[in-house]
Amino acid sequence: MHFELSEEHKMIRDTARDFAQTELLPGVIERDTHEKFPAEQIKKMGELGFLGMMVDPKYNGAGMDTVSYVLAMEELSKIDASASVVMSVNNSLVCWGLEKFGTEEQKEKYLKPLASGEVIGAFCLSEPEAGSDATSQRTTAVDKGDHYVLNGTKNWITNGNSASIYLVMAQTDVEKGHKGINCLIVEREMEGFQVGKKEEKLGIRGSDTHSLMFTDVKVPKENRLGEEGFGFKFAMKVLSGGRIGIAAQALGIASGSLELATKYAKERVAFGKPIIEHQGVAFKLAEMATKVEAARHLVLKAAWLKDQGQPFDKESAMAKLFASETAMWASVEAVQIHGGYGYVKEYHVERLMRDAKITQIYEGTSEIQKIVISRFLANE
Ligand code: CAA
Ligand code: FAD
Repeated sequence: MHFELSEEHKMIRDTARDFAQTELLPGVIERDTHEKFPAEQIKKMGELGFLGMMVDPKYNGAGMDTVSYVLAMEELSKIDASASVVMSVNNSLVCWGLEKFGTEEQKEKYLKPLASGEVIGAFCLSEPEAGSDATSQRTTAVDKGDHYVLNGTKNWITNGNSASIYLVMAQTDVEKGHKGINCLIVEREMEGFQVGKKEEKLGIRGSDTHSLMFTDVKVPKENRLGEEGFGFKFAMKVLSGGRIGIAAQALGIASGSLELATKYAKERVAFGKPIIEHQGVAFKLAEMATKVEAARHLVLKAAWLKDQGQPFDKESAMAKLFASETAMWASVEAVQIHGGYGYVKEYHVERLMRDAKITQIYEGTSEIQKIVISRFLANE
């Protein structure tokens, strides 16, 4: 057993840490306040290879492993979870899905620009009435021979207005239930595609979340990902990997909260000594550090299993469940340790607390992760 990161892994982590300090930290409060998409920062992340980290270099990717990806995700998420969700969707939902299940033509045409960060992608499963219950897709893709005609609405789509390429799940044969769902690659320029309203959010306010409308959009057959009726399984397989990315995002929010709270507790004096010397504060930090480390182990284990080509569905759900619950709890404690200063923007922890909440909701709520995990237990 090895608990040591390789030199290459450490280098990637340190590069991401430096990037977060020099490129993401300046302006993060302003972007959050004004709901400003971090366009310039995302462009630089593309140049560094952060948008196609696990993609083969022959498709313009960085050719790294999932462990490298989660190390980078943690570091960027400590500072700016709005930027890291863009990276997570592009890497693990869009690029990974295209590389694993796409045809050679699809990889040439769509994966290459996505992996280099020239354009970004979006993953469109959720609908106004189909979130957790994802098999209840109402968007339809009617088979017209050489193309599908797409109609419907998708909700809550990350990168909704900044993406150029959209992976859209839609029902082709309702009689077949989830086996009638297809995943289609939709280009922003296709006629009948429309970006709907931007959501005003509690957290990850720099990320751009929109509803999307499809009205008689003609999508060529060659834009279907996988075999006819593979769309739901495609979404589930891709989400299993995606949940490792969101778990790493949650880990970053939790470890960022711990770092800020520890620093503050050493500096802030009350009753004649730094507050870290008051056991009530010190014990909070001890518990935070323990849970952050436990979350890190779960995240790295899930990433490692994926890299080894071993099953990781249960472990990715466990990592996401535990890391996101830890992020929420630890960020609330970080605000508490900061006292009144924690409640204002300047000290960053209130943003971490608002950003933490979404990690318990998207890519499957905490309750959905418990369903996934408990089904494994029932069948073991
Ligand atoms: N890999 C492969 N196949 C899978 C699978 C997996 N991980 N999980 C399920 N399946 C297959 C099942 O085997 C089944 O196929 P068969 O009938 O051939 O056996 C089929 O999918 C349907 O599975 P279930 O019967 O388990 O379906 P269900 O209706 O009970 O739902 C669920 C299962 C786990 C709750 C699923 O609906 C789910 O994950 N819901 C949450 C949706 C979600 O995570 N949305 C995230 C949207 S993207 C996002 O949020 C991005 C972002 O914010 C940044
Ligand atoms: P519901 O499914 O209606 O759930 C409501 C509550 O009921 C939750 O607490 C849930 O856990 C609980 N619940 C539901 N079913 C059960 C059950 N069987 N047992 C126990 N409890 C249950 N989706 C995309 O497709 N692509 C994206 O890029 C994307 N980005 C997002 C970004 C943001 C900021 C947000 C807010 C959402 C995003 N989503 C995206 C959607 C997200 O995945 C869904 O919101 C999530 O899956 C939950 O679905 P829902 O909102 O419909 O809640």
